[in-house]
Amino acid sequence: MIIPTLETDRLILRGFKEQDIEPYAQMCADSEIMKYIGTGQTLSREDSWRGLAMLIGHWELRKFGMWAVEEKSSGQFVGRVGLYNPEGWPGIEVGWALAKDYWGKGYATEAAHRSVQWGFENTSADALISLIIPENTASINVSRRIGQSFSRAITIKGVKASLYSLNRRTTG
Ligand SMILES: CC(C)(COP(=O)(O)OP(=O)(O)OC[C@H]1O[C@@H](n2cnc3c(N)ncnc32)[C@H](O)[C@@H]1OP(=O)(O)O)[C@@H](O)C(=O)NCCC(=O)NCCS
Repeated sequence: MIIPTLETDRLILRGFKEQDIEPYAQMCADSEIMKYIGTGQTLSREDSWRGLAMLIGHWELRKFGMWAVEEKSSGQFVGRVGLYNPEGWPGIEVGWALAKDYWGKGYATEAAHRSVQWGFENTSADALISLIIPENTASINVSRRIGQSFSRAITIKGVKASLYSLNRRTTG
């Protein structure tokens, strides 16, 4: 599987490579970033590597997945954004997480918007969902900006979350 590279005005979305482990592990070790992801725990460097390998393997199995996001102007690793649908997930999720230096620039929305466009063009999903812990206001704002709306409350792996959804037809 060759992971496609996408472009937006300010960002490159590309497949993960092993050299990303340094900035990726830093993100996964940051409690403020991890607070609302999964069980809310930070990850060791070893577990971050396993997570990175999973994100690459997800593409092989599903033919879609998460991209590493790079800032065009600096070439720096910004975070991970893209599609996620592991076994047992309630739908194809569009997800976002950025290193803190890149918050407040509109990058998550820009990359998520491109991911949604690619997702509707390249998967048969009727809707793209996002699972967001209700206290995660910044993430809910990204969800709203890409056109998702609240669908229902859900408990996923023991964590209470809200399911936001965007239907294929509403994207035109
Ligand atoms: C969720 C997360 C990605 C949101 O990041 P964010 O920077 O708030 O979102 P965006 O990248 O879309 O940026 C929007 C902000 O940039 C501002 N901005 C500045 N310049 C901008 C520009 N040129 N274009 C658009 N927005 C711009 C917007 O006004 C907005 O700020 P505001 O929220 O104060 O109004 C980030 O908080 C994060 O990584 N959190 C940890 C991981 C996480 O919780 N992920 C989600 C799990 S469900």
